[in-house]
Amino acid sequence: MTKEKDPAFVKYRRIVKRFGNVIAVDDVDIDIPEGSLVSLLGPSGCGKTTLLRMLAGLETPTEGDIFINGKRINDVPIHKRNLGMIFQNYALFPHKTIFDNVAFGLKYRGVSKEEMQERVYKALELVRLPGVENRKPSQLSGGQQQRIALARAIVIEPDVLLMDEPLSALDENLREAMRRELNNLQQEIGVTTIFVTHDQREALSMSDKVIVLKDGIKQQEGTPAEVYNHSANHFVADFLGHPNFLPVIVGEEQDDHMVVQLENGKTFLATPSTQFKRGEKAEIVVRAQKLKMAPRAEFHEDEGMNYLFGKVKDRSYMGGEVSYYVELEDMSTLHIISFVRRIPLERNDEVFIKLNPADCRLIKV
Ligand SMILES: Nc1ncnc2c1ncn2[C@@H]1O[C@H](COP(=O)(O)OP(=O)(O)O)[C@@H](O)[C@H]1O
Ligand SMILES: [Mg+2]
Repeated sequence: MTKEKDPAFVKYRRIVKRFGNVIAVDDVDIDIPEGSLVSLLGPSGCGKTTLLRMLAGLETPTEGDIFINGKRINDVPIHKRNLGMIFQNYALFPHKTIFDNVAFGLKYRGVSKEEMQERVYKALELVRLPGVENRKPSQLSGGQQQRIALARAIVIEPDVLLMDEPLSALDENLREAMRRELNNLQQEIGVTTIFVTHDQREALSMSDKVIVLKDGIKQQEGTPAEVYNHSANHFVADFLGHPNFLPVIVGEEQDDHMVVQLENGKTFLATPSTQFKRGEKAEIVVRAQKLKMAPRAEFHEDEGMNYLFGKVKDRSYMGGEVSYYVELEDMSTLHIISFVRRIPLERNDEVFIKLNPADCRLIKV
């Protein structure tokens, strides 16, 4: 007889966590498929660490249930949950050797000396630090120490790997390299992983699924492309980076578009949506990278596009791209990120901006 396998290896169901009057987590459901990397993303204080600590057994849910591989674990003590954990401050034992640091979790598992050696060496190889076993943590760089923390977490072959902002203590360049390494390693060993971060780039670049949280409430979940391109609300669109918001009044659907009216009276076309009624207030959200800009003197109209006019107020280079702030005729400001132009646009240049209706999504206000 074949039993239908639950696609969610880790499940949170209707989880509430209160600390006195503070609601840290407010009725959250999470499904984490086996072998996947799921990020919990949100600003400081939104409940990410609390969600992780409840899975680890370091906190008890006030309400709701948590399951690992179909088994309810609310009352399973911490040492009986087979979990690997990594935190921002590597938390290595400073006076122990790297070998003993990595072997730590194995000592309580009745593993023979030979097997212990084999597994520690294999873990050090997996994090690409073979040969450091006799050193002390202080003899390694921050990035290397974090890899040791990772080796210590995976050496026990955990059911789930929990990472709480593991890269935030590292400097930017190292962080990006470690991001890729973590991703490769996670895929190589196939361990189900929950990754907590407040950094949207980290979440978007690493995850199979992103869960966006605010004030303990789940705002949206989806693939990185879904949450970025189809943000569910203003908060999510804003948190994921470089949005422009244009307040509008919704009109009617017309040839696969929604006709909407901007505050300046202009008519715009937005992507279709069944969620909005005629006359309702809404916002267009459009990413700074999706706007096309050119000198006003070159203006020509392509049918079916949206246009705005304004003046460059600010410009800053970001390597291959330029970030512009453009003041529109109604004095509002648009953020535009574009590739470096052959003839650069200067401050106070008059420009027109083209918006493809397909990039103008409507969200509730
Ligand atoms: N042990 C605790 N006692 C009281 N309040 C707490 C405790 N742990 C967390 N909180 C509160 O719960 C909320 C969520 O915290 P946390 O899960 O640490 O958020 P995040 O990790 O997203 O920054 C915050 O308001 C925080 O102050
Ligand atoms: Mg935290």
